[in-house]
Amino acid sequence: MQHSDGGQREVFNTRVGFILAAVGSAVGLGNMWRFPYVAAEGGGAAFVFLYILLTLAIGIPLMLSEFSVGRGARLSPIGALRKLGGGRWSVLGWMYVFTGFLILAYYSVIAGWVVRYALDGIVAGFAPDPAVRFGEVTSGLTPLGFHLGVMATTVFIVSMGVQKGIERAALVLMPTLFGILILLAIWAFTLEGAVNGYAFYLRPDVSELLDPYILSQAAGQAFYSLSLGMGCMLTFSSYLSDDTNLTREAVTISFSDFGVAFVAGLVVFPVIFALGIQGDVSESTMGALFIALPGAFVEMGAAGRVIGILFFIALGVGAVTSAVSLLEVVTASVIDETRINRRKASILGGILIAILGILPAVSLDFLGVMDKLAEAMLALGAFFMAVFVGWVAVGAADEIRKGAPERFHRFVPSLMASIRWVVPPVILFAAVYAFIAVYTEYMSAFGGGG
Ligand code: PHE
Repeated sequence: MQHSDGGQREVFNTRVGFILAAVGSAVGLGNMWRFPYVAAEGGGAAFVFLYILLTLAIGIPLMLSEFSVGRGARLSPIGALRKLGGGRWSVLGWMYVFTGFLILAYYSVIAGWVVRYALDGIVAGFAPDPAVRFGEVTSGLTPLGFHLGVMATTVFIVSMGVQKGIERAALVLMPTLFGILILLAIWAFTLEGAVNGYAFYLRPDVSELLDPYILSQAAGQAFYSLSLGMGCMLTFSSYLSDDTNLTREAVTISFSDFGVAFVAGLVVFPVIFALGIQGDVSESTMGALFIALPGAFVEMGAAGRVIGILFFIALGVGAVTSAVSLLEVVTASVIDETRINRRKASILGGILIAILGILPAVSLDFLGVMDKLAEAMLALGAFFMAVFVGWVAVGAADEIRKGAPERFHRFVPSLMASIRWVVPPVILFAAVYAFIAVYTEYMSAFGGGG
């Protein structure tokens, strides 16, 4: 792909490279850790159906909104919003950079735990008492060390640039992740009791769908999982050329992301039900992944060890490619705003985020609050993005038509209508719930309840 206006901006080398990088951003802890539980708690198959609906009605229009701004301006969020909307809108860009800091700071801490679990499996096998082990893994100074390790890896990839770093890493890492996950799902299918896991995961409980809380959960999960609402997709699309069919790419990326999340559920629930440990799972989603699953791997002996190692490697891969996209937003913004070079910008951003990550690395309470706040910030960011593209900046429709064959053009009016009328109210609703959740989490962590 050649850069059409002859500028210096980096570009993705291939279509597959871009898609895998974007899917790498989308696929992460949100898919393999959060989705299965939110879905199971929220009505099983009925939730999955609602989630697909939201992906179509909200996720894809929002992703296209970000794409149209990013490729339209060929700048990272701050500059792009300023260019298309005037100085006031650059504030939204700054908010995105802030959200990037916030998310990556705790995301890399969790990614560090994942690496530690993978190492546990490789070095000595998973610990016999997973709850005790979880306590060890998340306390003291070691989580800080692993957090720094993840940050260093992330900085390394981002500093190498769009083609040589981000694209190349995605081309290797994402197929690895897909391969491992499919293997795991096939293996899980052979487990005795797998059927009960599927039955729980996919029970068609329509009644829960009428609960507005579930709707807000599904919407929140959709932005989080698709990396929307903080300029990630915007930034990646700024490295695309005019002949890219944005609509086709948005659909491909969104459904790949959903596919991974869905298959992760097909791994997790059979494992848990095969061992009859579903009780351990309902307490917390964090516990589910880091306590129930390692527990299951231990019970399964040698096979469990291999499976567990593969599972945590896949999860770690997903987390690192997402971390890369988060750091890229910060790095690209520094490059575009200051003309500091990529290497220095990524190191600078990485160091600041590593420092912010000290708090969640040493305090689980802090991490919990940051996670909720991140979700709320994404909802807010997504809301303003939809308002911007739907009502403020003109030209999104033309940008979306560019590079798309005629037969795609007839979807553009309904797409724009959705960006104007459907997306903003639904997101606003989800944002309100998300901010309430921040408050609740904060009070339960620090509100002097003890
Ligand atoms: N989408 C990532 C996940 O599912 C998280 C993420 C959110 C990454 C926002 C970038 C931006 O884990």
